Amino acid sequence: MSLSSIEDQTVAPRPVHVPVLLPETLELLAPKPGGILVDATLGPGGHAEALLEAVGPRGRVVGVDRDAEAIRFARNRLERFGEAFLPLHGNHRDLIRLLREAGVFAVDGVLFDLGISSMQLDAPERGFSFQADGPLDMRMDGDSGSTAAEILATSDEAELRRILWSYGEERRAGAIARAVVEQREREPLERTRQLAELVQRVLGPAAKRFRIHPATRTFQALRIAVNREIDDLERVVTESVSILRRGARLAVIAYHSLEDRAVKHAMRALAERCICPPRLPVCGCGRENLLSVLTSKPVRPSAEEVARNPRARSARLRVGERL
Ligand SMILES: C[S@@+](CC[C@H](N)C(=O)[O-])C[C@H]1O[C@@H](n2cnc3c(N)ncnc32)[C@H](O)[C@@H]1O
Repeated sequence: MSLSSIEDQTVAPRPVHVPVLLPETLELLAPKPGGILVDATLGPGGHAEALLEAVGPRGRVVGVDRDAEAIRFARNRLERFGEAFLPLHGNHRDLIRLLREAGVFAVDGVLFDLGISSMQLDAPERGFSFQADGPLDMRMDGDSGSTAAEILATSDEAELRRILWSYGEERRAGAIARAVVEQREREPLERTRQLAELVQRVLGPAAKRFRIHPATRTFQALRIAVNREIDDLERVVTESVSILRRGARLAVIAYHSLEDRAVKHAMRALAERCICPPRLPVCGCGRENLLSVLTSKPVRPSAEEVARNPRARSARLRVGERL
């Protein structure tokens, strides 16, 4: 089992989120002065800042995030760009509706930088991190949907095993799920420290030799389940192409193999809609291809970027151009 789809929490917390694959994203997304770009995962605004600089005062960047704290932070950080920056609080599951309500109907590029920001990870009260004690919450949008504690309290053993295995690629998913069910009969699992200690106990002393903290996979899996991060991704990526102008680009950075697979499938389906024989000069089947995939293989961070920012380790960037 590779570490490639596991996010890194084992390094010292960083005060600021470092944008991943920034030069590569800018080169492939190719924002032009005066362009309108959408950052569908605004976070603390690292990518958005670079996009705002590229589109200049006549351009516009719309930043969407489901986390009100991220919106607040990015609004302050990007204040100097004035009306060129438009923050929108909401889930990118509803991207097209959110944009339409803001009067945005056609754009020159869309970026998704999936997953979690260091800012979220480093706030113990949000419950994403096993490094500091906090409530087992993990909801990106604060107060909607079930918390991690509620999932741990109410899922049966088989469901817990599925979550840990599919979203965390945790080899000991079965043993951890069993231990959760046993422990919750004695006391509710409500704190990050309780869960981190439980996982450490189940994985035993050998886990101390892992390159990552033993609880990394369990925490990642629960976070993905709490926020339903993979459920709608293929549809969301597909729909986002409907607002791209011809020649505009879609860039997606994924950190998990399931996320990357959903992005790859969505892009491929958009690129291979037409069923006409290749000898036909123009499409006659009415199912024109909508995207040309520019990255036959995903772009990965350089060794130097990973050394500087270990969080980038599992990143994979895929880009397509609207035909
Ligand atoms: C990796 S961070 C983005 C970091 C940003 N690109 C930067 O460089 O500063 C991902 C952000 O996407 C947000 N997010 C994740 N899923 C979302 C969704 N379905 N809708 C809206 N925002 C989402 C998270 O709350 C988080 O702030």
